[in-house]
Amino acid sequence: MRLILLSLALSLIVCCENTSKKPAEALAVRGLVTDSAMVVSAREEASRIGVEILKQGGNAYDAAVAVEFALAVSYPYAGNLAGGGFLVYRTQYGERGTIDFREKAPLAAHRDMYLDDTGNYIRDKSSKGALAVGVPGTVAGLFEIHHKLGSLPMEVLIRPAIELARKGVPVTAHQLEHLDKFRDEIERISGESSLYTAEYRVGDTIVNSALANTLERISQNGVAEFYRGETATILVDYIQSKGGIISMEDMAIYEPQFRKPMEFSYKDLNIITMPLPSSGGVCMAQILGMLEAYPLVNYGHNSIKYIQVLAEAERRAYADRSYYLGDPDFVDIPVDSLTHPDYLKSRMESFSFDRATPSSDVRPGGVTTYESAETTHFSIIDQFGNAAALTTTLNSGYGSKLYISELGLFLNNQMDDFSAKPGEPNIYGLLGGESNAIEPQKRMLSSMTPTIIEKEGKLWMVVGTPGGATIITTVVQTILNVYEFNMHMQQAVNVPRFHHQWLPDALRYEKDRFSPELIAELEALGYPENLTADPVIGKVDAILILPNGKLEGGADPRGDDKSVGF
Ligand code: DON
Repeated sequence: MRLILLSLALSLIVCCENTSKKPAEALAVRGLVTDSAMVVSAREEASRIGVEILKQGGNAYDAAVAVEFALAVSYPYAGNLAGGGFLVYRTQYGERGTIDFREKAPLAAHRDMYLDDTGNYIRDKSSKGALAVGVPGTVAGLFEIHHKLGSLPMEVLIRPAIELARKGVPVTAHQLEHLDKFRDEIERISGESSLYTAEYRVGDTIVNSALANTLERISQNGVAEFYRGETATILVDYIQSKGGIISMEDMAIYEPQFRKPMEFSYKDLNIITMPLPSSGGVCMAQILGMLEAYPLVNYGHNSIKYIQVLAEAERRAYADRSYYLGDPDFVDIPVDSLTHPDYLKSRMESFSFDRATPSSDVRPGGVTTYESAETTHFSIIDQFGNAAALTTTLNSGYGSKLYISELGLFLNNQMDDFSAKPGEPNIYGLLGGESNAIEPQKRMLSSMTPTIIEKEGKLWMVVGTPGGATIITTVVQTILNVYEFNMHMQQAVNVPRFHHQWLPDALRYEKDRFSPELIAELEALGYPENLTADPVIGKVDAILILPNGKLEGGADPRGDDKSVGF
């Protein structure tokens, strides 16, 4: 035992001295610890609203609905009514499930809709403006969550968001950065100046009366308001006036789906996560399955060997993702074979610590660019022991950049998650194949990975993150940080992250958080650095149940994220 502790201590020291520019970060940082309930989300206002709902006797699913409505108000960068997402749940009785409220391709969509006459892919068409918008799923998803799992009246869950929109939300430094960055693009694409293109300073308050009115109507008229009522008419007229193809019929026939979760084990953990059309579950099962045979603790956290073995497992999983994965309602996907232990073992047979496996040997490749983007995840555990992991997105920051002033909301650009043309990467540099080609009513492949983990049959962790292609590898690293490296929840969220996604054949590191020596050493082993990457990788909001039964929150300091609880 003493030896194990000593080697763990040594590995942490190695980690700090060799790899991190900020040794203090590897010290034991503790998050908020509470006795019985917690909400961790992208904004303090939303976390507080969730906790208020719990204090009124609501459960985790009531709180999830209230938090998502509140994020649509307080975090318009990614929180939304006109986007989509996934819920993974595990009730106090151990029942588990998922609700898929991912957007769908409109009925008039077709596979070549983003190609010009000569077959060239027009990137902006799938990622900006009205043709980029998928049929939104969020409102239907929230009503389904409420219907299946909630306990308080829906009006009670929407009311705090209405009040927040009327009272206003203070502008934070992070939010100001987002608004400044996208102001011109939102104005150009929407064709007018609007609430979110005005000039603000940190501390100013943004009141969104139009959104309050939209929420008020949804509260009075229910889900039909958004899909068949006045709100649907305004939304569809707006999209069509901008050249989009979403119709009233698309709205009327939208339905969320209950799906059996993807479940798999990693050592003595049972991981409950999102199945297809998210690639998250399959890829995470593959990556952790490939890693299970390696003594990660001996290598040390963020050591050369650790980064190598993770990168190689990630490379192989993302190669499979690009070829096999898509909407299971449209294509047959060999999930059992892809996650079978024999297959995963054979996948790693070509790996050696001496030299990187070139991605061209795993599958033929291409090159890519990146765009900064956003999604949002929150984690909730209530006083009864119910857990909710919910990730939702407009895709890019402010989605398609189309803002409907009359409704007070942004429209998603989720159509970009389809593969618009074989061999052409999407905004995350992800390649897709036939399985993820556009078809009417199909759901575009996602990476969102809301996850709930059991240890010895008991609830242990709730975790998830935004980050496009990096979502899956961020969730994997967060789990390993706690499970293998004994970090506190908050510390596991804080420490530096890296990412490999097969193509481009390069490693992404969080900016200025890995030493130049480590990066150079990996470069010499055949892992070039991806210099076009985002400054941060993921923004995790997670909760861990401690051995004494208390809850520890991990709210990502990369954003305004906050743990609140009691
Ligand atoms: O569903 C997906 O995988 C993407 N649309 C998620 C986008 C995202 O996470 C952007 N955040 N950084």
